[in-house]
Parts: sequence; structure tokens; C-alpha cells
Amino acid sequence: MRLSLKYILISVFGLIISSQAISQQLLDDSTVDPNPHRMDWWKAAKFGMFIHWGIYSVPAGKYNDDINQGEWIMNRSKIPLCEYKKYAEKFNPVKFNAEEWVLLAKAAGQKYIVITAKHHDGFAMYKSAVSDYNIYDATPFKRDPLKELAEACRKYNMKLGFYYSQAQDWSHKGGAINGKMWDKEAQEGSMDEYIDQIAVPQVKEILSNYGDVAVLWWDTPQSMNTERAQKLHELLKLQPQIISNNRLGGGYQGDLATPEQYMPPTGWPGKNWELCQTINGHWGYNAYDDNWKTTKELLLKLVDVAGKGGNYLLNVGPTAEGIIPPVCAKSLKEIGEWLSINGESIYETTASPFNYLSWGSATRRGNKIYLHVNKWPADGRLIVPIKSGVQKAYLLQDADNSLKIKRSKERVVINLPRFAPDKIVSVVVVEIEGEPDVFPMLTLNKKAMASSELKEENSVMKLFDNNPKSIWCGAKGSDSAFVEIDLEKLEPVAGFAFAEPYRLWNNKTQGFKLEYKNGDTWEMISSGKTKGVGYEENFTPIKARYIRLTISNKEESPRLNEWTLRRPE
Ligand code: GLC
Repeated sequence: MRLSLKYILISVFGLIISSQAISQQLLDDSTVDPNPHRMDWWKAAKFGMFIHWGIYSVPAGKYNDDINQGEWIMNRSKIPLCEYKKYAEKFNPVKFNAEEWVLLAKAAGQKYIVITAKHHDGFAMYKSAVSDYNIYDATPFKRDPLKELAEACRKYNMKLGFYYSQAQDWSHKGGAINGKMWDKEAQEGSMDEYIDQIAVPQVKEILSNYGDVAVLWWDTPQSMNTERAQKLHELLKLQPQIISNNRLGGGYQGDLATPEQYMPPTGWPGKNWELCQTINGHWGYNAYDDNWKTTKELLLKLVDVAGKGGNYLLNVGPTAEGIIPPVCAKSLKEIGEWLSINGESIYETTASPFNYLSWGSATRRGNKIYLHVNKWPADGRLIVPIKSGVQKAYLLQDADNSLKIKRSKERVVINLPRFAPDKIVSVVVVEIEGEPDVFPMLTLNKKAMASSELKEENSVMKLFDNNPKSIWCGAKGSDSAFVEIDLEKLEPVAGFAFAEPYRLWNNKTQGFKLEYKNGDTWEMISSGKTKGVGYEENFTPIKARYIRLTISNKEESPRLNEWTLRRPE
């Protein structure tokens, strides 16, 4: 095929768009204290504990023959309310100990807790005067765990936030329901009445009765409109310092983006974002899911999230007895041990100044750059692609002993000891002069083209605007389309990443093919299928000027949010 499209110069439009988005956000959230320092503790915190706890922990994931359930069990198995309520009668978590949970979060190095005050099943996990469908009135437990947690958090100086499912509620008339209604008698009703009679007064309760609330974590804005959302948003005034997420709906952006179970491989520059993730495959307790992530995976994720400038909200799903599964507790404590030595490289840091590091990632605080090395170089030479002056380099664990450095014009080579001080990820500190001067993104200000573009707002430029929400789409009907970049000269390339617009639960996939031009022929670098949420891969460096990424999509026009190429050190 002959290319008739001209290359388009990637411009600064993206930056203009994102700064507009930011001012829009301030307007939307004008009822909350606009003081930007409100976010300071959250930005410094980096690591929090998410707790999904409810009466769904009684069936523990199993209904009839299906064992793949969590907090969605009522909906997925279409359990009528009168039957689901029986779980409440059996819910008696006598082993629940708020101090133990808070101390576990402390030991893990987590700085805040967000717990489900009410999930989509509509059951309030606190003493509510609004609906007797709550832990105090409807279970033999007769205690208010949120009250106990709030006290323990105050005692141990831990921030506490509440998750509240404001739209979906499968047990109160008029609550939104994902999929078809299955219990008309219990569920049919007006959503506006549900908002006025259940959601608004309950949110008022959780924002009034528990002291300082650090975070309101809304979820699934299904069927929300501005009018409904506004009534809820208004209540945030009760806690002027509160931080809220972007899942309220009705046009509110909140303070945080909340990528769930995945994060854009290209990060989220300029945004406050929080990756929430499960330790196994479920949020609520599932006794049959042993697919636990290892401590190593979790710790590397924390380091990766911090390097990309986000926070990590890691979930635990306590049992019906009130116990946080011991496997989770063990991993959390191990992460905490690492943080007790290396926490300086995580807390209060900002994103990595580097676009890519083959041996790990980095964070920054002032003139210190923290290098998170998870592939300890066999030859003991750590190449850091930085042009700024370097005052010294040392292991974070051994700050008194400077490491030898050798500087060339564009790089610094640090002589490392033979063995890594940590078996998962070791921290090397580099103190620099002035601002970090690093290689720009390979794709910055380069010309790019696409084989097709669906609309003007879906131009190829969207791939390089640092905004993982804006989108390039190929033309409709074309089940495959490509984007191509001209790097202007032969450049070494060692990896690539792209972000896609789907979510894991969409079960979408796109095919991809990355090629580079070698003389007159296109040679394959990598190909495969994605899960619809993005992809990243590193490879043995090649030299190329033209690189092409082909995307195929069987259901709709091919689409991507971001595309980056990685330069080797
Ligand atoms: C989801 C789910 C849910 C879980 C959550 C966490 O959208 O509906 O069960 O609470 O988000 O991010």
C-alpha cells in the first residue's frame, strides 16, 4: 500500500489540553477546599491498605457450584435479598481487632486505610440509622467496626478513608444494578429516592460520626447524573480536607484517577493517581482463590508505581471471622521490612526523571535520585543516562561510603559492589547538581503518521501527548491500522510500551505488531495479543529510524492511548 498521508508534527497541543483539564477539575470540585496542600499527605504517603469486608465473606466466594466469587456474589449468582440476608445472620467476626489491622498496615509501611463502609450489596458495615441493613442491627456481632477502626487509626496516627458505593445498591429500592434486576420486590424503585433516602443520609453519617475522614472512595458511577452526584459531592464539605476519587460520576473528576488492577504502562504524568490491586484475584474474601501474588511481585509493583508517580492501594479481604488472611499479612510485613530500610526512596518522592531504565526504575526527592535496581549488573557497572553533574553516589543502606563514579558527557557509570544488598530491589542514591538533565523521550517532537484516523480528535498526535485518556483510533471498518514514527536518524531502541482504553473486565483484546525499517524491508520486533489495557516489552537494542506499530481489532476500530519507545542507557 502506498502511503498518502503526510507525517504530522507532534506538537504541544497535548499540554494545552491537559492544563485545561486541570482547571476544569478545580471548578468541578469547588465545594471542597481548593487549597492544593490538601493533597500533600496523600502524595507523600504512596502506599495504602484497601479493605473489602462485608457479609459476602460468609459464603467466602462459593455459591452452589461457582467458586469464583467475591463481593459481587449476590449479583453474579442472582441471590434474592431474603436469602442473601441470611449471611448477615451468620456474620459474627469475633476475631476482628481494629488495632491489629491498623498495626499490620503500620508494619507494612502503609500510611492510610480505605475500608468499605457499604459495597454494592447495600449492606452497611457500620451502625447506620438510615437502614437497619447494617452490621450493628442485622448481625449477631452488634459492634461498629468503623468506629473501632477510627479509634485505632487515631491512636496510631493512621489516615482512614471510606469506600461507599453510592450508585449501585442491590438491596435498597432504586439502587443502580449492573445487569438485569433479579429481585423486583427488593430492588425496583426510583433511583432519585434511593439517592435521597439512602445514599445521601448514609454518606452524611460516615462523614459525621467517625472524626476525620481522609478519603471518600466512591465507586461505579452507574446511572449517576449531575443532579444526583451533586447532592453527594456537596456532603464533602463536612470534611473540607477530604480527598475524593474520580468515581462519583455526574461530571465530577475528584482528586484522583483510579486505575484498577492495571496501570497505564506509560504512567499518568501530571495527575494524581492511585493503582488499586488485589493480592489474589478477588477484592472480597474468597476461600478458594490461592493465586496469591508473591512479596517480590508486590514490592516491585510498589516501586514501579512510585517510579511512575502514583500511589499503591493494596487490597486485603478479611474473613467472616475478621481475620486478614495470613498470606497477605506475611507479604505486607515483608514489604514493611523493606520499607523500614528503603522507605526514604518511596515516601515523599516524585516520578522518575528517566523515561526508561533497563535495570529497574527510579524516584526523586530534591537533588536525590533513588535508583531501584532489580537487575544487579553482573559486571558491577550501573549505567545511569544523566547529563547533570553528580556529586556522589552511594547505597541507601550504606550512605557513609561513596561509590566510585565515572562520568562521560551523557552518562555516569557507578561501580557497584559485587552483591546486591537486597535480594529483590536495592536502592542506589545519586545526588545531582541542579535539575536532572536526561535524554528526552525518543518520540518527543518527532513526526508521526497513521494509516487512518477515525476523527480529527483521534489523530496520531494523541499517542504522544502524555495523556492516557486521549485516544488515537483508526478508521471505522478497518480491522487493522498502523501508526508510524520517524525518529529522524538511526536511534537505538530497547523497548516499547503502549496504553489501551479498555479495562480488564471488558475482556477485550487487540493484536499488535511492532516493526522497524531495515533498508527497504520492514522487520518484525515483536507481535502478540493484549488484554486491552496496554502492553510493554523490552528487547535487545536495535537501531532504527522508522518504527511502525500495527494494531488489529476485530470488534471496533483499532485504538491506543499512548505509545512510547525506550532508549537503552
Ligand atoms: C470495582 C468493583 C468492585 C471493587 C472495586 C475496587 O469497580 O465493582 O467490586 O470494589 O471496583 O476498585
